[in-house]
Amino acid sequence: MAAQELDLAALRRVYGRTGSRWFYTRVARNARHWGWTEPGQSKWRLWRAQRRLEDVLGQKLALPTGSRVLDAGCGAGVVARAMATRFGLLVTGVDVLDFHLAEACRLSARAALADRTVFSWGDYHELPFPDDEFDGAYSMETLVHSYHPARALAEFHRVLRPGGRLVLLGPMSTGPVEELPPSARALLEPYLDAMAMTGARFYHAGNLSQLLTGAGFEVEEALDATPYYTPTTEAVHAYFRLPWEVLRRFGDPARWLNLRSTVEMYDVREYVAWYVHTAVKPSR
Ligand SMILES: C[S@@+](CC[C@H](N)C(=O)[O-])C[C@H]1O[C@@H](n2cnc3c(N)ncnc32)[C@H](O)[C@@H]1O
Repeated sequence: MAAQELDLAALRRVYGRTGSRWFYTRVARNARHWGWTEPGQSKWRLWRAQRRLEDVLGQKLALPTGSRVLDAGCGAGVVARAMATRFGLLVTGVDVLDFHLAEACRLSARAALADRTVFSWGDYHELPFPDDEFDGAYSMETLVHSYHPARALAEFHRVLRPGGRLVLLGPMSTGPVEELPPSARALLEPYLDAMAMTGARFYHAGNLSQLLTGAGFEVEEALDATPYYTPTTEAVHAYFRLPWEVLRRFGDPARWLNLRSTVEMYDVREYVAWYVHTAVKPSR
C-alpha cells in the first residue's frame, strides 16, 4: 500500500475537540489508553485497569533502572511517568500534538519528574534522535495511527542500541480489513476513519510480527491479550453508552468523538484484537 503522510488535522480532530479533551483530562485522568484485567480482578475500576496495563508494559520492557527509553506517541505522559516512578526508567516522549506535549511537560513538572521524563515534538516515522540512542522503546496504543508502520518500525530499530527492547501494545483488526465480511467492514471502517486509525489499513493480527522481522527485530513474544482487554471494553460501554446517547441526541456529536469511540469499540469488538508484541534488536 502506498505511503501516506502525517495527517495532523485528522489527529487534531480526534484528540483536540473540547469534549474529547474534557473526557481524557477529567474522566481518564490524562491516560489515553485501555486497561488490563486478569481473571478474578474487577473490570469496573478503570483507573486500576489502566495502571495494571502500564505495569504489563514495564514488565515486558524488563530493563534495569536508569535505562533510556523512547515513548513513541506519549500523549500527556501518563505512561512515561509510570515507567519512571515504577520501573526507574529515563523516558523521552515524542508526540505530534502540541497540546498533548504541553500537558505532558506541565504534569511531569508538577510531579517533580521533569528530570526523568522529557518530551518534545516528534513524528515517530522520522525520529529526531541519533542511531543506537535508547535501551528500549514502546508504543502504547499509538501505532494504530501510523501512516506507514514499516517506516515507524525501522525508525524504532534505528534508534535502539543493539540488544535494545521494543514493546508495542494496542488494538488491530483480526485480519486484513479488506478481507473481512462486508457486514464487518461496514461497522469497522467508519470507526477507523473517524478515529484516524490509518495503521489498521496496513497491519493486523496476522502480519505485525512479520513487519517487525522485516524491520530487523527478533520477535520475542506476540501475545494475543484480547481476553485481558475485553473487560475494559465491556466496562466503558456500560459506563458511557447512556451519556453518549444523550450527547448524540442533544449535543454536538462531533465534539465528543472519543466518548463515541469508547462506546463504538464495543460494536466492533469481534473484529478487534489487542496484542502485546515484544521484540529485540539483535546484538551485532
Ligand atoms: C491513544 S493516544 C495514546 C497516548 C499515550 N501513549 C497514552 O497511552 O496515554 C495516541 C497518541 O499517539 C500520538 N501520535 C499519533 N501519530 C503519531 C506520530 N506519527 N508520531 C508521534 N505521535 C503520534 C497522538 O498524538 C496521541 O497522543
